[in-house]
Amino acid sequence: MPRRCANHLAVPALKPPPDRLYGRQRTHALRPRQARLLAETLPRIRFASPSNPWSAFAALPTHLWLEVGFGGGEHARTLAASRPDVGLIACEVFDQGLCSLLAALVAEGEEATGELPGNLRIWDDDARTLLRALPEACLDRLFLMFPDPWPKARHAKRRFVHPDIVALAASRMKQGAEWRAASDDPGYQAWVSDIMAAQSLFSVAKPASARPDEWPPTRYEAKARAAGRAPIYWVFTRI
Ligand SMILES: C[S@@+](CC[C@H](N)C(=O)[O-])C[C@H]1O[C@@H](n2cnc3c(N)ncnc32)[C@H](O)[C@@H]1O
Repeated sequence: MPRRCANHLAVPALKPPPDRLYGRQRTHALRPRQARLLAETLPRIRFASPSNPWSAFAALPTHLWLEVGFGGGEHARTLAASRPDVGLIACEVFDQGLCSLLAALVAEGEEATGELPGNLRIWDDDARTLLRALPEACLDRLFLMFPDPWPKARHAKRRFVHPDIVALAASRMKQGAEWRAASDDPGYQAWVSDIMAAQSLFSVAKPASARPDEWPPTRYEAKARAAGRAPIYWVFTRI
């Protein structure tokens, strides 16, 4: 039985999300500084202990947060700097994004030695793989800022907000944990509303059209606003 979305697209029974990732991941020509960041800095901050995530940080964190698709990393960096008590795992697969965050963390020439934040770790692989590997009910907060919208209906199963991924994320979140999400794409906005209205794992607060004060801005959001698109911001709370 087809489900009808608020954007009036009849969506046939949704296929499971594909195992492989779509979208850009690798750039062929890395500049020398970028190559050093990936070879020398990334291994020093890479998240490598999914079965015991708390052990990855310099000090035992009071809370565990996860950001999916950090892009240039400005949101992740601000979060980590503002909450030293929190352990933040930041996920990104695109090497230019990884390099942007790493470049902001260590000065040129200090790729192998520069001090790195003890409460920030990077997962440079598919966030869905990480979610599957984490213990149940370990996350206090999840961030999904401006996910790739995959606007074509035939690509809907690639969207991060998918019933199977919503269930997976819920299983890794504590009761009362917050999932913060934002999108500027009208089709994706309608999609999120529909998918979240059809589930019972999270309560869904009325979405906001202005970014809540304590949410750091992101690069993609700035581009969206400059292009005249209107983002929506959601908070889903794990029941
Ligand atoms: C549209 S960009 C938004 C980036 C950033 N959040 C912002 O607001 O500026 C989406 C990012 O998510 C990343 N991404 C998509 N799927 C992912 C996944 N399954 N795991 C990790 N990163 C993912 C992409 O590589 C891309 O950089």
